[in-house]
Amino acid sequence: MDTSTETPQTTQDLFEKYVAPTYGRFRVAPVRGQGCWLWDEAGKKYLDFGGGIAVCSLGHTHPRLTGAIQAQAASLIHCSNLYQIPAQGELAKLLVEGVMKIPGKVFFCNSGAEANEGLYKLARRYGTLTPKANGEPRIEVITFQNSFHGRTLAGIAATGQEKVKTGFGPLMEGFQHAPYNDIEALKAAVNENTVAIMLEPVQGEGGINAASPEFLRAIRDLCQEHDLLFLLDEVQCGIGRTGHLRAWETVLGEAPEAANIVPDAVSWAKGMGGGFPFGAMWLRDVTKSSVSESICNLLGPGSHGTTYGGAPLACAAVTAVMEEIIEKDLASHSAAMGAYLKNKLREADLPFVKDVRGLGLMIGMVIDQDAVKALSACETSGLVPSIFLVEALNRAKLLTVPAGADVVRLLPALNVSEAEIDTAVFMLKTTFEKLVATN
Ligand SMILES: Cc1ncc(COP(=O)(O)O)c(C=O)c1O
Repeated sequence: MDTSTETPQTTQDLFEKYVAPTYGRFRVAPVRGQGCWLWDEAGKKYLDFGGGIAVCSLGHTHPRLTGAIQAQAASLIHCSNLYQIPAQGELAKLLVEGVMKIPGKVFFCNSGAEANEGLYKLARRYGTLTPKANGEPRIEVITFQNSFHGRTLAGIAATGQEKVKTGFGPLMEGFQHAPYNDIEALKAAVNENTVAIMLEPVQGEGGINAASPEFLRAIRDLCQEHDLLFLLDEVQCGIGRTGHLRAWETVLGEAPEAANIVPDAVSWAKGMGGGFPFGAMWLRDVTKSSVSESICNLLGPGSHGTTYGGAPLACAAVTAVMEEIIEKDLASHSAAMGAYLKNKLREADLPFVKDVRGLGLMIGMVIDQDAVKALSACETSGLVPSIFLVEALNRAKLLTVPAGADVVRLLPALNVSEAEIDTAVFMLKTTFEKLVATN
């Protein structure tokens, strides 16, 4: 077919015509990346402090990750989970012994929502084995208001935000949302149908809210008292992002073993793949209640699976990312750079920013919504304050991520440098001050 007379279509045209409009997308079209930097189609350079929403833990095109993918792709990309995949076994060992440091086993999948599906199924299985007095399974998982657990049907039922559920009813049964960090409300929510409590140690999409150590202690006690599973969603906050490989350790401020606060299962995705699509669920090796089988063996042959989970190419990529994070101690670097960034943000005294919160490199700038709405440009745009500011920053070539209407997140690569942080803070200051000056 002769296409020479066709008008070339821009990326924006292609999106409007052919891509399902599930995302409100910004008009930035990155085509190349290196470290914390991205370049768009026109060759314009951006400082990436969104990190693909807490995914690009090593930055873009890190040679260790790129090299591992290239080498593995040349030897074996895929083989089925019907067979023993050596790299999957090695990675599982690394995650159990090098990350969790608590005996257990790992199930591999492809995304955060899918890793969480494993947690829900584990809870259902446990609730079947430890039923209510009338013999019916316990099915209810308590999650928290403002949480985010993914976009599958179970994921939106688990998520404690109305906006993800609207129009998708009837929702899957078996979830109840309690207020985050409210111990008394949580105690009141537990009932004979409850089988698990599941939380993000630091809520990401909900606007960077950390659980208090007392809250985690109370969850541990409730789980013991009522024979509940203690489930952690570390999809966004895990694998070094908050300053420790185990996010709940950062929140606790001490080793979980010393505090005796150990989850029964944890989900991961995002940062562990550094951009390679991946998810995983760790299951604790422990027997509980009257169940003779260990938690880590409850999902037995035929009970759960996924075609691509833990395939050779994915395992090579994730192993490279994990080894780099562990060898370079990027979790500690994240803690140090996060403290540096928070300090610089506070010193900068940025217009519109009324608070800076978060742990490690999972940082939220809390926006004074009224001050942003008072800008005539914001009013004309019709955008909520966080998105209005993120757009202004995009134009200034600094990429950030909104969370709700009043938080702008900063989620740079875990190996970000002080110089890059200084540049980002300078860009934030000049952009926000310009918005005020040109109002
Ligand atoms: C805490 C948390 N859980 C689950 C998910 C879902 O992960 P995915 O988008 O990989 O399915 C996300 C995604 O933002 C998340 O932040």
